[in-house]
Amino acid sequence: MALALARKYRPRSFDDLVGQESVSVTLSQALDSGRLTHAYLFSGLRGSGKTSTARIFAKALLCERGPSSRPCEECLHCTMANENRHMDIIEMDAASNRGIDDIKELIEHTRYKPGSGRFKIFIIDEVHMLTTQAFNALLKTLEEPPDFVKFILATTDPLKLPATILSRTQHFRFKKISRKLVHRHLEHILNLEKIAYESDALEIIARSGAGSLRDSLTLLDQAIVYSKEKIDIATVTGMLGIIEPAALDNLLDAIFHKDRERILSFIASSTEYEAEMIIDELTLHIKELLLNREGPFTPMILDRFFRILADARSLLHIGSDGEFVISLTLFKMLEALNIREIDETIAILQKELSSKGSPAVVTTPATAKRASSSAGKADMKASSPEAASEDGASIAQRGGDTGELKFKTLIAKLYDRDYDLGSCFEKNIRFKSYEGSTLSWISSAEGEERKMLIKHWSLIRTFVQEIYGLSTKISNIPAQKSAETSPGEDKKKADNISSRDDGEIARTERLAECELPDNASGSSTLESVQFPADCEKEEKEASIEKEPSKLLDEAMVKEAIELFGAKKVRIRRKS
Ligand SMILES: Nc1ncnc2c1ncn2[C@@H]1O[C@H](COP(=O)(O)OP(=O)(O)OP(=O)(O)O)[C@@H](O)[C@H]1O
Ligand SMILES: [Mg+2]
Ligand SMILES: [Zn+2]
Repeated sequence: MALALARKYRPRSFDDLVGQESVSVTLSQALDSGRLTHAYLFSGLRGSGKTSTARIFAKALLCERGPSSRPCEECLHCTMANENRHMDIIEMDAASNRGIDDIKELIEHTRYKPGSGRFKIFIIDEVHMLTTQAFNALLKTLEEPPDFVKFILATTDPLKLPATILSRTQHFRFKKISRKLVHRHLEHILNLEKIAYESDALEIIARSGAGSLRDSLTLLDQAIVYSKEKIDIATVTGMLGIIEPAALDNLLDAIFHKDRERILSFIASSTEYEAEMIIDELTLHIKELLLNREGPFTPMILDRFFRILADARSLLHIGSDGEFVISLTLFKMLEALNIREIDETIAILQKELSSKGSPAVVTTPATAKRASSSAGKADMKASSPEAASEDGASIAQRGGDTGELKFKTLIAKLYDRDYDLGSCFEKNIRFKSYEGSTLSWISSAEGEERKMLIKHWSLIRTFVQEIYGLSTKISNIPAQKSAETSPGEDKKKADNISSRDDGEIARTERLAECELPDNASGSSTLESVQFPADCEKEEKEASIEKEPSKLLDEAMVKEAIELFGAKKVRIRRKS
């Protein structure tokens, strides 16, 4: 009968050990430097090389030309050790010899000198299986054995060992062997065995081995028997009862393309498999996509898939019907694609914000209302994209049409903020010109509507500055007077107004004048209408009570004057 691959290819030297470099390097150094202790503990996953390492270490300790990390492999000790018949290497399986009597016998053995070697080496496998009494009996010897005694304890479960044992041993942890290394090792063995294989099939075996080389080699043995000419994916997936990776690729492709038909046919064809296996395989497949950055799915989407699959697993655990869980899971994955990613959403919002007032995509209640009540305003949306990327100042250079387009954006923005305000503004304010940083418009607002515009003046001005640039001045031309002025005059007047405004306000503060000379020119700023010139009498009364100049010095009042660009300040007595 052919020897199982795992036995046939048991490592004979530290160099043969796969994926346990830190252990083999440390042990080699200890051997070469002669810094040896009397008790070692090897722990780690099943089939990861603990027993093999214990044997290599024992051989290295006993080699005639040793102790050395590279035993000669020729001397009697090496030969006997390799043949597993060295009388000074005593292996004990604690799983089947776990009682106090077994340990007493072992302790008895430690009293006698080695037969031919320099050490007597005790390898106790699965040491965590010993009974508490057996552990206690071992403690004393483990701590102070005769000089010629070495202990090598091996376990898959070091947490089950009493602390007293752990503290008396040098502990070496064996790692899970990476899939890449297992894969390479399997290829190496098949090449030596001259057996044909598909590399992807070995990948599946390595994955199923889950970090244990022995498990992987046992599966490989099985696959050799199972396959006819060569070890291929179909052989391995058939043998393991798992779904082929290509089927999963196809499924994920169907999900990505929202192809319900293909998903349904997958569900129909997957009934022969265990639902749990499909979920596990899908999870592993997605994990691979994530790690290799393959496939059309972003990490965000894959994260959602993981959660959905985790839900599926818990549904299966509570005994839900497998086919139902698979169907539900796949359609949830389909659904998960519809949710916009946070990054994407942020990018869209940022774009909208930077488009300075475009109402195009963000659907606030105001825009919704507007859209339904006023179909005729669709052109406002159209105006925003060009306006979006431009900065007010640069537009100020160009004026003309762009100024008018911006005006539409302004209207849209006002609508967005307050539907009634937007509607009032649009109805009453007509764009006239935008030149030299001055936006001129013609206002036909009267009565309540005029009051409304005045009330929201600072908001309107803020929006104007946001859209046209910070240095923009507004020239408000009452409708009846606009007919008498030309655009050139407007500009001149606006300039006058603004320069005069600053002067006036300064003067107002300084002299605490209640009312400033009214605007004699044809146009006036909106600010001016806010403060009718009818307060002379009241002002006198107020000034009796309090010095108006002091009032005007108050921070809040100053701020209000600045905010509203006020030219007249009316101080009213509290009644
Ligand atoms: N690190 C490794 N390098 C090379 N082969 C390994 C390694 N680990 C395990 N093997 C293979 O697996 C077989 C079993 O390994 P070994 O007996 O050393 O594992 P173990 O860790 O003692 O396992 P267990 O905990 O089940 O006793 C070896 O004969 C060898 O073929
Ligand atoms: Mg072992
Ligand atoms: Zn030797």
